[in-house]
Formats: sequence, C-alpha cells, structure tokens
Amino acid sequence: MANTDPIPVGVLFSTSGATATIERSQAFATFFAINEINAAGGICGRELLPVHYNPQGISQQYQALAERMIREDKVNVIFGCYMSSTRKAVIPVVEKWRKLLFYPTPYEGFEFSPHVIYTGAAPNQNSAQLADYMTRHFGARVYLIGCDYIYPYESNRIMSDFILEVPGGKKLAERYLPLDATEKDFLPIARDIKAKSPDFVFSTVVGKATRMLYQAYADIGMDAMKTPIASLTTCEAEAAEMGSRIAAGHFTSAPYFQSIQTAENQACLRKFREQYGDEIEPNMCWEAAYFQTHLFAEAMRAAGDDTYDVLLPHILGREHQALQGRVAINPANHHTLLHPRIGRVNHHGQFDIVAESAGVSPDPYLVTHTNETWRQSMMPEPQIG
Ligand code: ACM
Repeated sequence: MANTDPIPVGVLFSTSGATATIERSQAFATFFAINEINAAGGICGRELLPVHYNPQGISQQYQALAERMIREDKVNVIFGCYMSSTRKAVIPVVEKWRKLLFYPTPYEGFEFSPHVIYTGAAPNQNSAQLADYMTRHFGARVYLIGCDYIYPYESNRIMSDFILEVPGGKKLAERYLPLDATEKDFLPIARDIKAKSPDFVFSTVVGKATRMLYQAYADIGMDAMKTPIASLTTCEAEAAEMGSRIAAGHFTSAPYFQSIQTAENQACLRKFREQYGDEIEPNMCWEAAYFQTHLFAEAMRAAGDDTYDVLLPHILGREHQALQGRVAINPANHHTLLHPRIGRVNHHGQFDIVAESAGVSPDPYLVTHTNETWRQSMMPEPQIG
C-alpha cells in the first residue's frame, strides 16, 4: 500500500517578541503555501503537516525547539528564523542531526552551512544596490543606526565599504540600540542625526524598534523627502505599524514588494487576504517564506523523500517561478538568485518601485561583486516625484 502518512515539517517563527510582526507573516506565508500544496493533493498523496512552536524571539528557544521538532516530531525540514542570531543558534542543531533549514530572510552574508537554504537577499542583492542608488541620488555622507546584534554590525561593515568606495563617501556615525529600545532611547539618536546632517541614514534597526526610530525621526522634524532613511528590512508591515504619514519618503532595498504589478502577484495577494484577512501585511520575508515552501514541495515530489541526502540534490539548482520573478537555488553556495528592487514608501504605505534589475546570482562572500556589475544589470529608472 502507498504511504499516506502526513509529512511533518517544522515551522519555527516567533508569534511574540521583538520581531513577531514579520515572523507571523513568515509563519502564515508558510501555512498558506502548505494549504495550497495539500489542496493540490499533497506530495505523492501525502499531506504536509506543519509543526509550529513559538520561540518568542529568543535564540536559545529557537535552538531548543529545533531540537524538539527533530527528535520528538520527527521533522526533516524546518522553515524558520528571522534574526541572524536565531539562525546561528539553529545551524548547529540541523548540522548535528543532518536536517535542513530553509531561511527566508535578508541577512549579512559571509556564511555557508550545507544544511541551510538561504532564500532571502545576500548583500550583493540588496546592500550594493541600495548604496549605489542612495549615493547617486542623495550623496555619500551617511549615518548608520542599528540594533545591537550580528546582522546590523555586519551589514554596517559592508555598507561602510560601499560608501567609502564613493568619492566623498563618509561615515558620520555608527550607533547601536538594544532590540527592546524605547521611543525615549531613539530621541537622542534622532537629534544627533539632525545635528550631523547626513545625506541619508542607513538603518539596520529591526522589529518593534523600527517604528520608534522612524517616529522619533519625524518628531524632531527630519524630512524624509530630503534626508530619507534607507533600509534592507523595513517593509510594508512596519510601514503599516508606523503609519504612512511617518513612513512616506523612506527607502528599502528588497526583491519583493506588494506593489509588483504582475497578475500572479496581485492574484496571490487577493487569495491570501481572502483566507487570512488584512491583519498580516505581505512583505519580502513573507514572499520568501511562501516560495521556499513551494520550492521544497517541488523538490520533494521529484525526490520522493525529504531526508537530507535524498532531498538536497533536488533542491540545488532548482528553479521556481516566485512572485518576484524566476528564482533559482545556487548549488555552490545554497543561496538564491533573486531580483533586486528599490522601493520608496508612498502616501498609501506601499512601495513605489524606483529601481529594479534582472535576476542577480547570490555572492554571499562578495567575491565577484563590483558596483559596475550591479549598474549594468539595472533597468532604466522611472522618474520619481
Ligand atoms: C536579520 O537579522 N537577518 C534581519
């Protein structure tokens, strides 16, 4: 008799804690994809069974719960993690048990685990583009502000290199605040930004603190149209949290925005809202979580099994038609070919896409990247108002 047992898969995203808004969107994108896969007959007649725990944004919990999913719930594959600190906590677990983590979040690069598939942007797919765009349009005197953990430190190091390559490029300050910083903590930073008068601010602030930075920035009278904040993570969800009055004018570099005007994207957004309502704002991490689950299902259909050694060869090199465009898993570094875009928040809290490029192969160690390669792949920019 054919095996009709459900296939347990781990879903390890926080629904409470500092990064709950984005991680909830990643969890629901995963459930949405799993429902579609099951509605279409599952994988070789077997349904996917999501096993979800809430690690509350705490690295040690991610590690303990990954271990529990593998040992008790018998998952071979985990979809999970937003903060790089939490991914780093899960990697030793998936490596020890020979399992696979699908990670749908932009991050700082400079990492490779044979047990991770990285489906968010690497620095050559978001930071390089943002540095180039912002320095050409606003100038290269930059103020760096981030949360106090690995992704901001490393992303600021990379951004500093890109900025200092530009004639006149200057880092005016580099500041860090804890993830649980309050509005009061951001006011002195916002005042310091105003005093130093940069051409733009590069923010690696994530989670709940994002709204507080942008709010403090508006409160002290900084004008986003003249001196915008540029980010790799601030997305539709955070723009909705802070309100479009505060968010409008700021920039984000990401492979996906809701505003991509393809019929497939708009139909998918409608279907998601019909099922889950308006509470979750789809965003770059939502899209990566959605496509990676479908890509996994396609690979498992081809492999007939989800154990690491059988499944992995069917993932590496695999292409998939995602909402952002055609993506592909690079067999050499396990990262994904993605479609860099730059968006500027408009008065509806959505991103006007002001620059976009053809697919860019992942180069997580920035080995082959030059600013010239990125410029050559860019499509002509529309006029921005
Ligand atoms: C991140 O920590 N990779 C956003």
